[in-house]
Amino acid sequence: MKKSSKIILSVLVVAVVLFGTYRIVNKAPSTSLDSNAQMAEIIESSGCMACHTANPQLPFYANFPFAGKLVKEDIRLAYRSFDMDPMMEALKKGKKSVK
Ligand code: HEC
Repeated sequence: MKKSSKIILSVLVVAVVLFGTYRIVNKAPSTSLDSNAQMAEIIESSGCMACHTANPQLPFYANFPFAGKLVKEDIRLAYRSFDMDPMMEALKKGKKSVK
């Protein structure tokens, strides 16, 4: 095989693997759930709550000297601008709005 076709082939293989991973990781919630439960599932699986809440579950690297500072600053800013806890509570209780 020529060198250029090997490169093209490897790019294709990588693209297919990435596409497959994306399809496996990003699944739409089951349509048998009501719309609130679907929304809650999307938010939970997207990791939004890692930053947009007062008491997030910190990742293991949150206590590392340099990375930890960045993580905590992200959480501080995210929580200050948008606390998602009330929204999650409302979704779980099946309410349409926080108020
Ligand atoms: C790694 C931490 C992190 C994660 C995870 C994260 N965010 Fe954020 N988000 C931030 C930060 C930091 C800000 C505020 C940036 C600023 O104030 O400059 C922000 C801002 C926002 C804002 C804007 C609020 C405003 O008043 O302008 C919305 C909306 C938002 N995020 C929604 C989401 C959603 C939905 C998800 C999940 C899909 C998510 N975020 C995941 C860190 C995060």
